[in-house]
Amino acid sequence: MRFAGKVALVTGAGKNIGAAIARAFGAEGAAVAVVDIDSSSAEETARKIKADGGSAFAWTLDVGDASAVAEIVSQVQRHFGTIHSLVNNAALVTRTSDTITTILETSEEIWDQFFRVNVKGAFLMSREVSRIMIRSEVRGRIVNITSVAAESARIGAGHYCCSKAALAMFTRVLALELAPHGITVNAVSPGFIQVPQSGPVTAARKEYMEAFLKGVPVNRHGRPEDIARAVLFLAEEGSEYITGESIRVDGGALAGRTFLPKSA
Ligand SMILES: NC(=O)c1ccc[n+]([C@@H]2O[C@H](COP(=O)([O-])OP(=O)(O)OC[C@H]3O[C@@H](n4cnc5c(N)ncnc54)[C@H](O)[C@@H]3O)[C@@H](O)[C@H]2O)c1
Repeated sequence: MRFAGKVALVTGAGKNIGAAIARAFGAEGAAVAVVDIDSSSAEETARKIKADGGSAFAWTLDVGDASAVAEIVSQVQRHFGTIHSLVNNAALVTRTSDTITTILETSEEIWDQFFRVNVKGAFLMSREVSRIMIRSEVRGRIVNITSVAAESARIGAGHYCCSKAALAMFTRVLALELAPHGITVNAVSPGFIQVPQSGPVTAARKEYMEAFLKGVPVNRHGRPEDIARAVLFLAEEGSEYITGESIRVDGGALAGRTFLPKSA
């Protein structure tokens, strides 16, 4: 058990990638603080971890709400004693037609909502949790879930791409600032990870997924467990010399230009 005696807090852990990360920590012996804005899905993930023989407790939290973040993080500390790993996974994503908009069509409200959750949420969580790590002299781990969208521009996702690029830089600044305390801060940058759709898969979505796959050398879409494995690697004690780094988990999608033939 790689995380026996450790406490991991995962945001957005109610479903999909966040749930896979939380369950992977639970399976490796960590006590898991399952945090999500959606209480029933958070409860469900905690229930699954416990059914698998692990330890977990669910909290409902909007990571963009500063006073709620302070309150819930201190509740997690009271419940589990301290926090060794924080995974900032909660995010708004561009998956529905109302959130896929070109920059010229993007409302101020959508722009602000994405930055509030994807950037400010990670800032608030990291600030509160790292204060606890420092106070309790824990050589902690913070892992931010960014995206290849932080490096590779995508039409119709300017608000998302820019929020993830900001989170990537936040990762590096915080890594410098927390290094003297023995706390590492890294990013895991997923490519296209297949997660269940809430509604029917539209023709446009299908076309996008097929086009995306053509640029993935490994020739399959990613799975939530692919992301979980990279997160746990960075959260391990042995990864103490890795900080300010980003690991792409994208099947090689951003390694180069797969559409080019052999050099001639
Ligand atoms: N799925 C992909 O292809 C993909 C690709 C690149 C990056 N990512 C990143 O991986 C992470 C997880 O992606 P996913 O596909 O599982 O997303 P998802 O939308 O399926 O799940 C996100 C979870 O975050 C929760 N959440 C949303 N707003 C919140 C808030 N304000 N406070 C607390 N919780 C909140 C949601 O309730 C949900 O449970 C995100 O950071 C996303 O940007 C995903």
